[in-house]
Amino acid sequence: MPLSLFRRLLLASLLLVIVWTLFGPSGLGEELLSLSLASLLPAPASPGPPLALPRLLIPNEGACGGPGAPPFLLILVCTAPQNLNQRNAIRASWGGQRETRGLRVQTLFLLGEPSGQHPTSGSHENHLAQESAAQGDILQAAFQDSYRNLTLKTLSGLNWADKHCPMARYILKTDDDVFVNVPELVSELVRRGGHWEQWKRGMEPQTEAEVGEEELEGGGPTLGSHPVPLLYLGRVHWRVHPSRTPGGKHRISEEQWPPTWGPFPPYASGTGYVLSASAVQLILKVASRAPPLPLEDVFVGVSARRGGLTPTHCVKLAGATHYPLDRCCYGKFLLTSHRLDPWKMQEAWKLVGGSDGERTAPFCSWLQGILGILRCRVIAWLHS
Ligand SMILES: *[C@@H]1O[C@H](CO)[C@@H](O)[C@H](O)[C@H]1NC(C)=O
Repeated sequence: MPLSLFRRLLLASLLLVIVWTLFGPSGLGEELLSLSLASLLPAPASPGPPLALPRLLIPNEGACGGPGAPPFLLILVCTAPQNLNQRNAIRASWGGQRETRGLRVQTLFLLGEPSGQHPTSGSHENHLAQESAAQGDILQAAFQDSYRNLTLKTLSGLNWADKHCPMARYILKTDDDVFVNVPELVSELVRRGGHWEQWKRGMEPQTEAEVGEEELEGGGPTLGSHPVPLLYLGRVHWRVHPSRTPGGKHRISEEQWPPTWGPFPPYASGTGYVLSASAVQLILKVASRAPPLPLEDVFVGVSARRGGLTPTHCVKLAGATHYPLDRCCYGKFLLTSHRLDPWKMQEAWKLVGGSDGERTAPFCSWLQGILGILRCRVIAWLHS
């Protein structure tokens, strides 16, 4: 009898451990679910003609060059011409971080032309030229900067990355109201890339060039002679139906996405997603034949699907959630947080120790550490 009680207890605790692992604070369950998506993928579409993109007004072609190693991570921040305060807050916080964990990071701001009706658009143009000359981190393309033109903005940025920064291994697309924990994001990418490096080493004595050719034959993109793993990482939205609300910010007409097409394919929230250089190439190849949707994140998801690439879910990317400032969440469990004004952006950066990395106390108490991202979500929910 005591033995059977012992067994029952053992079984119960085993179950508890499994449930905790899958659905608990680590978010592992969600991430496993996203891995199963790959099996549902249709065959990749054939590449379309090259994209016709607006020319660049501020091309900043040398931004990724310079002495030293090429960037490991290129961060493209979508911003509007008038959002100078947001840009400056990013420059003074996470955007100022040029190197972390021994790897180079480059942050650039993407924008279009100030809208014509704006009374001070002429002076905006001058200010932008001055800002670009002083900071060297602006990329401007010749299209009207508006919410409905965001896809154009993102594609211009990705195309720039492919042309002028092909050495960057990963590209993060984000917005100017998003906080990014740059050191943790780089660590996360190194961790995920680690499997790839191990796999590649396992392939030896095959040379890298041979691996590159093999990839090419299989139709997969390569990066010079170094194949880069395909990665499309973000907070994945599943089975989202287009909004038909007239005049709504996210509206999609029936011509743009007919009802018979059903929900959108899974896509990563535009507040912050990472594409490997190879994934950027893939998306640029198929994008010209994808339906022209004004929602840039959905568009990238649709293109990725056409190219045979599924997004990988990462619970540490916040998506549209705003997390209240909390040292443990921002320091350890979150890679991004949405809707931070310039003041909060800098407060959050101070909270995680800024660029000096002089941390004495750990970010989380042991209890906070155990509760993990679950606790962060609960405080975000209580705060909202
Ligand atoms: C997008 O930009 C183009 C080129 O400047 C412009 O003609 C068009 O009106 C813009 N679209 C929207 C919805 O703002």
